[in-house]
Amino acid sequence: MGNYDLSRPVVARVREAADAVQVIGEVVTLRKSGRNWTGLCPFHGEKTPSFSVSREKGTYYCFGCKKGGDVIDFVMEIERLDFAEAVERLADRFGVELPAASEHARKRRDEAEVLRDVMEAAQALFLRRASLDRPRAFLERRGVTLEAAADFGLGYAPAEWRALYDELHHKFPERSMIAAGLVIEGEGGRCYDRFRDRVTIPIRAIRGNLIAFGGRTVGDDTPKYLNSPETALFAKSQVLYALDRAARAFAKSDRAIVVEGYFDCLALHLAGFTETVATLGTSLSEHHARELARKVPRVVVCFDGDAAGRTAAVTAVRTLLAADLDVAVLLLPEGEDPDDVVRRAGATAFAGLVDGALPVGEFLVGQLGRGRQERRDNLLRVLEIADACPNPVRRYALREALAQAAGVPTEQLGAVASPRVLAADSAAVSFLPPGESALLRAILLDLPREERGAAVAAVPVAALDHPATILIIKCLSERVERGAPLEISDLASEIDDREVRRILAALEHEVPPTGVEHLKLIMRGLCEKQRQKRLADLSLEIARAERQNEPERLAQLLHEKSALIRKTTRS
Ligand code: UTP
Ligand code: MN
Repeated sequence: MGNYDLSRPVVARVREAADAVQVIGEVVTLRKSGRNWTGLCPFHGEKTPSFSVSREKGTYYCFGCKKGGDVIDFVMEIERLDFAEAVERLADRFGVELPAASEHARKRRDEAEVLRDVMEAAQALFLRRASLDRPRAFLERRGVTLEAAADFGLGYAPAEWRALYDELHHKFPERSMIAAGLVIEGEGGRCYDRFRDRVTIPIRAIRGNLIAFGGRTVGDDTPKYLNSPETALFAKSQVLYALDRAARAFAKSDRAIVVEGYFDCLALHLAGFTETVATLGTSLSEHHARELARKVPRVVVCFDGDAAGRTAAVTAVRTLLAADLDVAVLLLPEGEDPDDVVRRAGATAFAGLVDGALPVGEFLVGQLGRGRQERRDNLLRVLEIADACPNPVRRYALREALAQAAGVPTEQLGAVASPRVLAADSAAVSFLPPGESALLRAILLDLPREERGAAVAAVPVAALDHPATILIIKCLSERVERGAPLEISDLASEIDDREVRRILAALEHEVPPTGVEHLKLIMRGLCEKQRQKRLADLSLEIARAERQNEPERLAQLLHEKSALIRKTTRS
């Protein structure tokens, strides 16, 4: 295994040579039906065929269980082989000669391993320094005992320019330390440590592998918290701090608690609320929400008791509702964060607060304001949040509660039905937000070829939610730059990702064509969403700059905010 070069062009050759109808036909009795072949899905029990194979595209897709992909995926799934084994099997069968593995391929694999090794070496070094007086005194002040610090792997990066660099550069090349985000290359090429005089907080992915660090200054350096930059291992908006630990607690707690800060999260874990996770200085993303929704039915939002925290809570509630989660909100006293409250009031009192958190309906009614007139004025805005909920029963209950509170008969709400319904008619790809599947469908299949490049360039990537959509759009942009064609079949062979290939198959087989007007609507929606997202993040950053007394940064942020508010999004 691993002896062959399985780079993209080679795999593409195998894919092309393998006849999907022949391979799949050995397992499934297929009948010709129009351009495709259909049969009984081998992945789930069924009596009427909903399994479809395209010989031309070399893909399969089941309308029932939503499994799909290319011929390689099929062999992997049916024969329980890994990717390399499946490719080798097909190559052998269809007479494609596989070249021996290249130096280059081996190198790429090694590089990823080096990155992981650098991170672990840094963690070991930070841990060794954790017992110094300076970090110990700081942690003690924060109520974190030595055992707790050790349990969470908290370490210390000393107040020197090159402590980490000097220790690690014998073992690792400079560029690996830079690629891991641990070392910064200054002007003139001189390197220095990113984390200095900071308590380091290891951030682990769900499987427990170390992907980044957070760093809390022990003095009064700014910024107060510094995170690893985005690296090959780390995408900030996709990671929740402590999810690797919290996931184990979900089964018992049946809920997750979401907080804003690392130390809020630590304090709650130490008080026994091990189902707590924290965002990493960004607003709660739809990716976060979906990840939680896969693991737990209910989320309690527990943000800081200040204006920024309250605004962020409203946005988070909307995002969590959209992922079909049951939500409750714990509003904290003005000026306090979960860390303050749990340490002041104690675990028992805090448990009472969490259990008494406002159910989402009451929280939304609270957002309407007080008097009848005020409530009517705010009704549309708050209804829009309730309408994010895809579950019709729950959505209806929320709408009714809001209508009642505003003194408007529920039937009248029909007139203000949200525009999201428009996007829902193409809700075909089960895991992709409908707007995104329609967008991809338009770009890859429905638009005339000469218009595709411009459409790709116009997509506001920051507003996309699903990692697969983001990957596909990024890959398409690269192709636009290279002047390569934007064909769905080229894409499938370029992206090494199972889920992406399943989605590409679904786009061809299941998603209805996207009209030009629909595409325009989607693009306008995405631009607006990008603007709203940036506004939400700006509010957080502004509150932070105020708290931390950084007038220059504050002015710059306020400037950006007012420019953004003035700019109404046009299509
Ligand atoms: P807060 O400013 O609310 O601080 O940041 P905190 O959590 O109460 O911090 P302590 O208690 O003073 O230590 C909340 C979160 O926002 C991110 C961090 O993830 C932090 O935990 N943040 C904050 C940054 O990324 N950069 C900053 O400069 C500040
Ligand atoms: Mn705090």
